[in-house]
Amino acid sequence: MQETRRDFLKLSLSAASWALLPGCATLQQCAEIIRNRPMRRDVNTLSADAALLTAYRSAVTRMRELPESDPRNWRRQASIHNDFCPHGNWLFLPWHRAYLYYFERICRKLSGMADFALPYWNWTKDPSVPGSFWGPGNVLNDTTRQITPSDVASPAAVGSTVIQSILDDSNFLTFGSQTLTASQSQRERTGTGRLEGTPHNYIHGFINGNMGNFMSPLDPIFWLHHNNIERLWVDWNLGRDHANPNDDDWLNRRFTEFCDEDGHPVEVTVRETLLYPIFAYRFDDSATTGTAGLQTGQRWKQINRDTTPAEQKENLRLAQRGGRIGLNLLRRTAAPAAAVATLERAAVFPLRSTEVPRAAGGDERLLLSFSQVSMAHTGDFTALVFLNLPQATAQTPITDPHFVGSFSFFDHQHGNAPESGNFLLDATAALKRLGLPGDAVEVNLVLAPFPGRTPRTRDLQIGAVELRAARDVIERSP
Ligand code: C2O
Repeated sequence: MQETRRDFLKLSLSAASWALLPGCATLQQCAEIIRNRPMRRDVNTLSADAALLTAYRSAVTRMRELPESDPRNWRRQASIHNDFCPHGNWLFLPWHRAYLYYFERICRKLSGMADFALPYWNWTKDPSVPGSFWGPGNVLNDTTRQITPSDVASPAAVGSTVIQSILDDSNFLTFGSQTLTASQSQRERTGTGRLEGTPHNYIHGFINGNMGNFMSPLDPIFWLHHNNIERLWVDWNLGRDHANPNDDDWLNRRFTEFCDEDGHPVEVTVRETLLYPIFAYRFDDSATTGTAGLQTGQRWKQINRDTTPAEQKENLRLAQRGGRIGLNLLRRTAAPAAAVATLERAAVFPLRSTEVPRAAGGDERLLLSFSQVSMAHTGDFTALVFLNLPQATAQTPITDPHFVGSFSFFDHQHGNAPESGNFLLDATAALKRLGLPGDAVEVNLVLAPFPGRTPRTRDLQIGAVELRAARDVIERSP
C-alpha cells in the first residue's frame, strides 16, 4: 500500500499545517515538496542585480502602491507590528516567525517569483547594513536611518563570541524570553531573554530612524534583520537540538492579526509555526562557514537539506518535540539600591560578597538580572556590563575578562505610561574567569552611545539588580 500524506503528517497536527504543503498527496510528493522548499539566503552572497533582490524590490514597490485599504499595503503591514508585536516575553520568537512567513508569501505572490524566499542579514559575519540596501532611488534604502553604509555594529551585541554564547544557552527562557500565561496580554513584558535583549534590540537602535520604533517594518532591512533572528532560533532549536517549551500556554497561543498573500485574514497558533522551518523554507549553509565563527555542523545541514523521507520525518519529529522548561531559583543576592547610569558615569551595584552565590558547578548558573529598567533609549545607547571594573568605559574591549555582556532597548513609543523592562545576562563564565567572589563583587554598568549621534536621553534608570544562582529545568518530551 502506498504511504499517503496522512501517514507522513501523522506526526503533525492540524488541518492548518497541511496548507503548508499544497499539492502533497503521496509520501513521495510530500518529500519532493519539502526537498524543494525555498531557500532563505544570506543577502551578502547575492549581487545587487540577483533575481532574488530584484523580486524583493518589486514586491516592496507593489506593496507600497497598494491602497491603504488592502492589508498587504506596506504601511498596513508595518502597522500589524506596531499594534500587536510581543516583546519581552516568550511569544517574541514565534510571533515574528509567523509575521515573516506571511510577509514572504505576500512577496512571492506580488513579485511573481514562484520560489521567492526572504534573504537574511547575518550581522555577525557582516556587521554593516548590506550595500544593496543603500543609495538614492533604491526602494530598499530608508532615508530615516541614522547610520552610514560603513558604520559597524558593535561586537558587544552581534560579535561571534556573544552570539555563540547565546546559542549555547540551552534554556528557552533565558535564550528566547520569558513565560507568559494564557491570560496575559501579548504586549506584556515578563522578561527579555538574551537573543532579544542583546543582538535584536541593538540592531534596531543602531540603525534607528524607522528601525528605532514599532513602525520599524517600514524599513525594508527590518525583514532581513528578523530573518537572521529566525535563522538563529532554527539553529538553536534544530541545529543544536535545544528544546522549545511544550507548555500549552505557549503552543496554543493564537494570533489573528496576519493576512495571507491574497489579503485574507489568517489564524495561526504557535504550535503551527514549529513546522515552518521543516515545511515552508530552509536556510543556506553559509552559517557553517567563514568569519561568522558559528559551527552549526551536521544537524544544521541535515535540517536544511533533508533529502530522504526518513530524514524529513525525523526532522518533523524533532521540530515538534519540546520539553518542560523552567528556571529554578536557588539563591540570590540583591544590590542595596536602585541606581542611575548616565553617559558620563557608570552605575555601580555592590553585592555583598559573603552572599554572592558560588556556582556549585554542574548545571548551576549565575544570572545577572536587571529589573525596572527604563526603556526609552532605543537609539541613544547600549548598556555594557562588567564585574569589578570600576574604570570600565564604553571603549573597554569585550575581550576584557571582566566583561559580562550587553543589552539594548526597543521601546513602544506610543503608550503614555513609560515602559519598563527586565533583562537577564549570564555571568557564570565571567565569575569563574575572575575567581569571584573575592573580597568584593560589584557590577559596573556603562552606557555606550551609538557613534555620531546626539542621544535624546542621557540617563538609564535601573530599579533593581540581582545575582541569581539558578538551575535549568529541561525535561525533554519523548
Ligand atoms: Cu517586533 Cu525587531 O521587532
